[in-house]
Amino acid sequence: MSPRIPKHVAIIMDGNGRWAQRRSHPRIFGHIRGASRIRKIVNEADTLGIRALTLYAFSTENWGRPEEEKSLLWKLLIKFLKKEEGELAKNNVRLRVIGEVDRLSPEVRAVLDPAIERLSGNTGLQLTFAVSYGSRKEILRAAEAFARECAEGKRKPEDLDDQLWGNFLWTGDMGELSDVDLVIRTSGEYRVSNFLLWQSAYAEYIFIEKCWPDFAPEDLRRAVETYSNRDRRFGALTPGPKLSALHQELPA
Ligand code: FPP
Repeated sequence: MSPRIPKHVAIIMDGNGRWAQRRSHPRIFGHIRGASRIRKIVNEADTLGIRALTLYAFSTENWGRPEEEKSLLWKLLIKFLKKEEGELAKNNVRLRVIGEVDRLSPEVRAVLDPAIERLSGNTGLQLTFAVSYGSRKEILRAAEAFARECAEGKRKPEDLDDQLWGNFLWTGDMGELSDVDLVIRTSGEYRVSNFLLWQSAYAEYIFIEKCWPDFAPEDLRRAVETYSNRDRRFGALTPGPKLSALHQELPA
């Protein structure tokens, strides 16, 4: 039987700073090495048949980091886009960002926006960078937008269901791919860190000890293999023979 491939994989690329510090390098060295990992992982995701890959590149909390580190992270994003856009186009990859894009600098937007636009017609792997992203912020913004539409008489509170709510989130235009199947976090930390809380309601989680700069295509392949062996029941039960036998023994 062919393995079950997760449609949407989201990765918390954690541990860049520790990776560098363990090698007596400044933290930013870890980010540089971490950024250089992205291309291989995107290609591997595509090869495996994953349809959407979301990478947590900068959280709303990361604004609190030193200026030097933040400015390097933005430079790395710009460099990635300039260097990789051709390859992404060749591989039919569509690019998105989710997060508070309005907080990004004009320099970042000047490279990011046109790249997104140029790749917007692609129908292959959906690659999303979460930048200035925080799930609580995303949910609050969605609540505000929905409440405004109600106040304007465009919607009624009782219209709200899972699907409509999903449309108000930053992943709203991803359709059936907006739900995350597998979340991977590197660096041995066992936290969710405000990442895709609504979208990962039924996701499987895999925590990997390696730091992001060491995360390799075979680690992604192994994670997908582990995922494909897990039994996802979405809260339901598959009654096995033992369970039905037990029912027969219960008094009527
Ligand atoms: C977490 O490591 C990682 C980040 C905050 C940023 C992730 C960024 C990259 C992989 C490179 C740049 C991105 C793009 C899109 C080209 P950490 O610094 O929190 O590590 P630590 O927990 O060891 O301190």
